Amino acid sequence: MQKIFITGSRGQLGNDCLRIFGDGFVVEGVDLPEVDLSDRAQCRAALDRIKPNLIVNCAAFTAVDACETDPSCWKANRDLPGHLAEWCREHDAFLIHVSTDYVYPGDKPLFQALEESEEPHPISEYGKSKWAGERAVAENAGSYAILRTAWLYGAQGNNFLKTMLRLTLQHPGKPFKVVNDQWGSPTWSLSLAKQIRAISEQRATGIFHASSEGWCTWYDLACAFLDQLGVEHHFVPCTSEEFPTPTRRPQNSILENAHAKALGINVFRDWKEELSDFVKQHGAQVKEEVGRSE
Ligand SMILES: NC(=O)c1ccc[n+]([C@@H]2O[C@H](COP(=O)([O-])OP(=O)(O)OC[C@H]3O[C@@H](n4cnc5c(N)ncnc54)[C@H](OP(=O)(O)O)[C@@H]3O)[C@@H](O)[C@H]2O)c1
Repeated sequence: MQKIFITGSRGQLGNDCLRIFGDGFVVEGVDLPEVDLSDRAQCRAALDRIKPNLIVNCAAFTAVDACETDPSCWKANRDLPGHLAEWCREHDAFLIHVSTDYVYPGDKPLFQALEESEEPHPISEYGKSKWAGERAVAENAGSYAILRTAWLYGAQGNNFLKTMLRLTLQHPGKPFKVVNDQWGSPTWSLSLAKQIRAISEQRATGIFHASSEGWCTWYDLACAFLDQLGVEHHFVPCTSEEFPTPTRRPQNSILENAHAKALGINVFRDWKEELSDFVKQHGAQVKEEVGRSE
């Protein structure tokens, strides 16, 4: 039976990967603080114990703004995938590594989507460390797939949707500025887990873009989520300049899942349909969780 090692298993995506690879597989999830996979010895000890045929790397340092000042992001985003890749090559295991739209600078004219052949030129420390992680995988692994996803949300952990809901519930009636000049494809982590499974079943290799179909701005996404939840909001569209952050973010992050489509295994639907299904499945629970943390 296939043995699967899922890293970052308490995160948004890791959690959904545990669900998707449930029955019919031997699955083991690993996360901090039990094991620090960026430490080569700890990583190899965990892998030697489990001896997986497939590794799904969902572990990462994902706090984008913190990456600008915290060099430890390089350990999780570059060194960790390198350790996994090295072990996979030595043991003939398949590695699925998850990366990001932030490897691109975002300067492609709107609304031209980015295909996998596009050369990465990251503009943030997060993007640079993730791009270095991709190269560590490509240079060290034998058989691998790298999935670049974008604007991830899920039931588990923190994300943009929960932040916007929290702010609104904490300050009813208050207007909040939300950036309306960055475009991307919001992606449900459960759909990404399904895409990972489809790629693993074919042992399809190479780079894959992996985000929902269609695109929107952060402002559009915040409004759509709260509208679907039935929560009154007063979001105000603004420019990136009006909402400065420590990190420069790509303006055009629209990904085209060209590789998966060419293989006939693209699982993604329009982002609004997927968001609607997410709200049906998890809306009440998310509202309750966010309400509790007010
Ligand atoms: N979130 C997004 O919007 C987004 C967008 C594009 C791409 N991605 C990529 O998608 C993947 C999954 O993201 P996500 O949102 O599911 O991330 P997440 O919720 O932040 O989960 C990542 C998990 O990895 C763990 N981790 C970090 N360093 C580790 C280490 N050294 N050893 C073991 N575990 C470690 C984290 O633990 P701690 O929480 O304790 O640090 C966390 O549980 C990542 O590769 C990310 O770069 C995410």
